[in-house]
Amino acid sequence: MTALDPVLTCTWATPQSWTLSAYEAGGGYSALKKAAKMAPADITQAVKESGLRGRGGAGFPTGMKWNFLAAPDGGPRYLVVNADESEPGTCKDVPLIMASPHLLIEGAIITALAIQCDHAFIYVRGEVVHVYRRLLAAVAEARKAGYLGRNILGTGFDLEITVHAGAGAYICGEESALLDSLEGRRGQPRLKPPFPAVKRLYARPTTVNNVETIASVPGIIDRGAAWFAGMGTEKSKGHVIYSLSGHVERPGQYEGPMGMTLRELLALAGGVRKGHHLKFWTPGGSSTPILTDKHLDVPLDYEGVEGAGSMLGTRALQIFDETTCVVRAVARWTEFYKHESCGKCTPCREGTFWLSQIYERLERGEGTEADIEQLLDTSRSILGRSFCALGDSATMTISSSIAAFREEYLAHVSGHGCPTDPRATALFAVPAKKKGAGA
Ligand SMILES: Cc1cc2nc3c(=O)[nH]c(=O)nc-3n(C[C@H](O)[C@H](O)[C@H](O)COP(=O)(O)O)c2cc1C
Ligand code: SF4
Repeated sequence: MTALDPVLTCTWATPQSWTLSAYEAGGGYSALKKAAKMAPADITQAVKESGLRGRGGAGFPTGMKWNFLAAPDGGPRYLVVNADESEPGTCKDVPLIMASPHLLIEGAIITALAIQCDHAFIYVRGEVVHVYRRLLAAVAEARKAGYLGRNILGTGFDLEITVHAGAGAYICGEESALLDSLEGRRGQPRLKPPFPAVKRLYARPTTVNNVETIASVPGIIDRGAAWFAGMGTEKSKGHVIYSLSGHVERPGQYEGPMGMTLRELLALAGGVRKGHHLKFWTPGGSSTPILTDKHLDVPLDYEGVEGAGSMLGTRALQIFDETTCVVRAVARWTEFYKHESCGKCTPCREGTFWLSQIYERLERGEGTEADIEQLLDTSRSILGRSFCALGDSATMTISSSIAAFREEYLAHVSGHGCPTDPRATALFAVPAKKKGAGA
């Protein structure tokens, strides 16, 4: 097996890959049969030794997170799988669930065995009704086959999985807001402490993990922690899905070891679209500082991307060529954060609104040089002062784009709007220039 042999995505091209029969034919549920004979602590230990880190963005070590759970006391405890996936650019969990829902279900059952819970929830983003339906069907299939329900595989272990559709708010991907939403309230981040491991869903110990994190667990149990740890880099182990989108010849999901570079991934994806060259990109969705063509050889692991001044996030590699107006792209992201701000804290609620207004001014051709400084100043007032990471995220592409492309911002001021005609080439629809404005 080479490092580029797919693991999470290996069945995606199989006909009807989402069915139980196709999954079992490819060796599915063999990891569960192995885990069913293991002590819960040994499953957690294997995940710890594998070096698996959460694939939801922050990269927290998964085995350590499970170990933090308060000891069983006879009361309920929960696993919650975060399938909210709403960040611009992030698009790996939805295809994973559509192609291979049983991989996630098998991972959830093994995780439940490890943390000794008898009820797991999969929280799905509200708009993706097809994903919700596919999961409901797969859970029903798994229950019928005896992988869910009472006395699973004769072990005496019981587990129910509830698939829950949210209402489509980005903030409900933040784990504490997700739990509020799951409990039937408006999704807003909660104060910590208490921490999830002690008191979270229905005030009981809870672990929240991303879809890709949980889907990585069967492979670790089946092939061993050393196999998983043999891939990737020193502190960022294993295989991951890289999502390439935007101005690339063959956009899509590319699975490979942690630490690949954008140059290598672009080679697999046919390169930047023909006749054009890379201008900027996000390493992990719209919440991560943008990088440029200077960063093609940065290893895409937590440490490498941090060293380049950004964050790995969800490995949502959005590629923009030279036809894209960076001001326009960042304006669209800023509009998203303004819209998705939950309104709980002032820096984010007010700040994202002001940021968005400044971008509108720059695009209308009415911006000033002071507006550029104001963007930076307002970003500084939000960063580190918001209640949750959404506020911080809103500032990331703003400060990084001004650092890398200040000239382009200044050209919007001196040219009274976008100096090129982005309507011809940009990814987004843009308003017509004011009559008589700019070159
Ligand atoms: C605004 C916001 C949105 C988030 N959206 C998601 C999401 O859609 N999916 C996800 O797994 N994590 C999301 N996260 C991160 C979660 O809070 C949490 O860290 C993650 O689910 C933990 O899983 P992991 O340890 O397996 O990565 C989001 C965080 C923030 C601040
Ligand atoms: S940072 Fe934004 S999303 Fe987070 S709590 Fe404050 S207002 Fe809500």
